[in-house]
Formats: sequence, structure tokens, C-alpha cells
Amino acid sequence: MTTDTTVLDGLDFPTPDLAVTDDVADLLFREARTVGAFTSDEVTDEQIAAVYDLVKWGPTALNTTPLRLLVVRSPEARARLAGHMAEGNRERVLAAPVSIVLAADPGFHAHLPVLAPHMAALADALEPQVEQREQMARTNALLQAGYFIVGLRAAGLDAGPMGGMDADGIDADLLAGTGWRSLFVVNVGHREGDGTHHPRAPRLTYAQTTRTV
Ligand SMILES: Cc1cc2nc3c(=O)[nH]c(=O)nc-3n(C[C@H](O)[C@H](O)[C@H](O)COP(=O)(O)O)c2cc1C
Repeated sequence: MTTDTTVLDGLDFPTPDLAVTDDVADLLFREARTVGAFTSDEVTDEQIAAVYDLVKWGPTALNTTPLRLLVVRSPEARARLAGHMAEGNRERVLAAPVSIVLAADPGFHAHLPVLAPHMAALADALEPQVEQREQMARTNALLQAGYFIVGLRAAGLDAGPMGGMDADGIDADLLAGTGWRSLFVVNVGHREGDGTHHPRAPRLTYAQTTRTV
């Protein structure tokens, strides 16, 4: 297997038509970038709610949907969040129209009677299994976090995800009393110019990442 992305940048068989138009595929994936520079255009709570309302339909194990959002908007809260970010990410939080802490809720099981009525008994069974709940919450909230980034793009917004942060510090400060565990922070807004100075880096190809048995 080669790791030279320059020789394996395409597929070695014809690509079937996508079920969405090229414009949509470009918006969601091919042209979308991780954005660090935003215009001052506001991002409303209604826009964020619409994104959640769309991506909540993405699948999670047992329909646990453990992703939780903390929308960080006030100047005081933004300063607190910036204080927990790695140095290179601090200014980005302060400059973005809005930042959202994406978090996992290990208390997701309380909702299982509604979210998975056929497995309602699991709510009680999972109560003492703290470690297993934390693992389930993290795995499935990370899945939803990916849906959320793509959902922001579908809403015509740009996203700048950042994992460089003191997660325990955020949990103890901004998430105190919730039991939620922060996964990463995403700055949200409209890109200024290209939104980034970094050239687009290649991705590993299908041939490099896939085995068929
Ligand atoms: C979960 C996650 C965490 C990230 N953390 C950081 C970060 O702390 N600082 C940063 O500058 N970029 C961060 N990035 C940005 C990635 O480096 C970027 O998404 C990747 O290089 C692809 O860039 P592109 O979308 O412009 O092609 C993060 C991205 C993701 C998805």
C-alpha cells in the first residue's frame, strides 16, 4: 500500500452519480474549509436551533443522542471560555461571532424511555454503569458532533472546530452542574474571504483507507 497521496488521489473506477447535486456536495464537503476568520455577521440562536433540529436525525447507538451544546455568546462567557483554550485558539474564540462547546452527556440514559421505548428498562440497568455510560456518551456525541459540523455548512454557515483546550477546566467552569463532558469547541459564523490562509491539504484516498473482504 502506498501512502503517496499524489498518485492515489482519485478512484480507479468510475464514480457513480451522487444523489445530491455537485453544488451540495461542494458546500458540504469538497469546497468547505475549516474557518478561522469570520465576518462580524451575527449568528442567531434560531440559526443554531435550526441546525440542531436537522442533525438530531443523524443515527446514534440506541438513539441515545448524547450530544449537548453550550452556546457561548456573552462577552463574559467568551472570556471564560478563551481562558481554557490553548494559546493559539484563544483569539479565535474572542473574535468569532459565536462559539459552541460540543459536549457529551453521560446522563443520556434518563431519556431512554422516550428515545428508545422498546429498551426502556435499560435506563435503570445503565444507572450504576458509570464508565460504560461515559464511553457510550462520548462515542455517540462525537458522531453527532460530526453531523453538526456538516449541518452548519448545510445552513450556509462556516465552522472552525478546535480541540486544543483544557477540557477538564471547561467542564468544571462553564459546564459545572450539568455533568456534561466537553468534546471540542466550534467557532461559527460566515467566512471572511477564504476564511483560512492554509492551503487545502490532501486526504487519504479510498484505496489507502479501504479493504474489501
Ligand atoms: C475535532 C477537531 C479538532 C480540531 N482542533 C483544532 C485546534 O485545536 N486548533 C486548530 O487550529 N485547528 C483545529 N482543527 C482543525 C483541523 O486541523 C482542520 O479541520 C483540518 O486540518 C482540515 O482542514 P480543512 O477543513 O480546511 O481542509 C480541529 C478540527 C477538528 C475536526
